[in-house]
Amino acid sequence: MTRFRLLTHLNTPQGQKALGHTGYIDGPSSRYFPGDDLAGRFVRALAERRAVPMKEVLESFEFFAAVRREVRRETVLDLCAGHGLVGVLFALYERSVERVCLVDWRPPESRKKVLEAAASVAPWVRDKIELMDHKIEQLDTRMPKQACVVSVHACGQRTDQCIELALESGGTLAVMPCCRSKRKSICSPAVALHLGHDLAIDIDRTYRMEAGGLHVRWASVPEVITPQNRVLVGKPRLTDGGPQPSVPAQQSALE
Ligand SMILES: C[S@@+](CC[C@H](N)C(=O)[O-])C[C@H]1O[C@@H](n2cnc3c(N)ncnc32)[C@H](O)[C@@H]1O
Repeated sequence: MTRFRLLTHLNTPQGQKALGHTGYIDGPSSRYFPGDDLAGRFVRALAERRAVPMKEVLESFEFFAAVRREVRRETVLDLCAGHGLVGVLFALYERSVERVCLVDWRPPESRKKVLEAAASVAPWVRDKIELMDHKIEQLDTRMPKQACVVSVHACGQRTDQCIELALESGGTLAVMPCCRSKRKSICSPAVALHLGHDLAIDIDRTYRMEAGGLHVRWASVPEVITPQNRVLVGKPRLTDGGPQPSVPAQQSALE
């Protein structure tokens, strides 16, 4: 059975049926989220607006649940944010997060619906969100220091750009890569031959993150949600070599 970390009510045979819903989350499919908790109310608000497909809901919640404790910082940048659901979850759940920048040069229609849905159940989200409708390349000279960079399925080398921006910021990082260009990506041909290109490229990214001063951990979201499910999580190493403590747990609205 697929174990959900945040949407725990789906950890039942009945709840697992949500995984079989391939389309947009809508009125009928919102029955999988009957609870009166924040997650239930938010997902039903998304469903009322037919904001995003079910897959995007499950993927974003699970990515957030897998990395939130380690990476949360006062400022969060969701790069190549698309619908912005991951950034919005930081604004919604994490009290210690004061500012969430959704960066996307061509934000889809769904982003407006996601923001409306979030504001309808958690009005505090509105004050935290900053929309940056431009290319991530334009952040080059104005990355906030010690920020948290998150990015889900930023295509190809965009993930590498996100890593570089996070290293420049000196904060934390969590990326879930998707497509990887064999031609453009850097990786060892020997490693690629034996482990496959995708894995070899993520290994190279890991070394890059470590060389940039991060303590790196690999995490994942359930493969049944997306086969592109590897998550690279990085946080600054302390000078004594140990990983840096993140924001204390009591600063979360919900754990
Ligand atoms: C595959 S979508 C992922 C969206 C979202 N993170 C998700 O999980 O669904 C990639 C997004 O990156 C955006 N994008 C592509 N190149 C970009 C760039 N150079 N700067 C900012 N956004 C970019 C696209 O507009 C698109 O919304």
